[in-house]
Amino acid sequence: MSKRVGIFVSGGGSNMRALVEDMVGDHAARAAVVVSNNETAGGIAWARAQGIATEVIDHRPFGEDRASFEAAITAALAPYDLDIICLAGFMRVLTAGFVTPWQGRMLNIHPSLLPKYKGLHTHARALAAGDADHGCTVHLVTAALDDGPILGQAHISVQEGDTASMLADRVLEQEHRLYPAVLRRFAAGETAPLML
Ligand code: GRF
Repeated sequence: MSKRVGIFVSGGGSNMRALVEDMVGDHAARAAVVVSNNETAGGIAWARAQGIATEVIDHRPFGEDRASFEAAITAALAPYDLDIICLAGFMRVLTAGFVTPWQGRMLNIHPSLLPKYKGLHTHARALAAGDADHGCTVHLVTAALDDGPILGQAHISVQEGDTASMLADRVLEQEHRLYPAVLRRFAAGETAPLML
């Protein structure tokens, strides 16, 4: 029986797409549902076109009430009987109330070499710090933002004249290599960090 994966997106969903496209053949997992807080997320349209189930839970009607937003996600997920959640550019902070029951089964990709640059604007911060080495990290999600055990990292070198958007493009290419490779191993029970 394949493991059942839910992928959470807020935007274009290029990482989600890389994960879905890798979940074929002898991969131990398959995409069961794509979840978004944003009906217009490009990733939702793509998932629908592939015939993958989608669930959209708009966070805005919930205002500051994160617990109710998260309860709505939990209710929407129930029919899918998920084994693994992959956050892939999901731009809402999830609280301990949601994260704790999923601990050890929920992954995230972050565009920095964690523990450096948790949060936003990672590429500009790497440039401002004069880093020669930059990249992305896949980690298990804990209640602390962009924290939790590291499952893999991929590196790029920062070149003279690079802008934040140039770094973002090159890191995203590495995200598309790293996340599928980590999920493939994780679904097969391998949690030793993968360093690309
Ligand atoms: C990626 O850089 C991801 O690491 C960050 O948001 C971006 C999402 O891109 N958290 P996409 O939606 O997967 O194309």
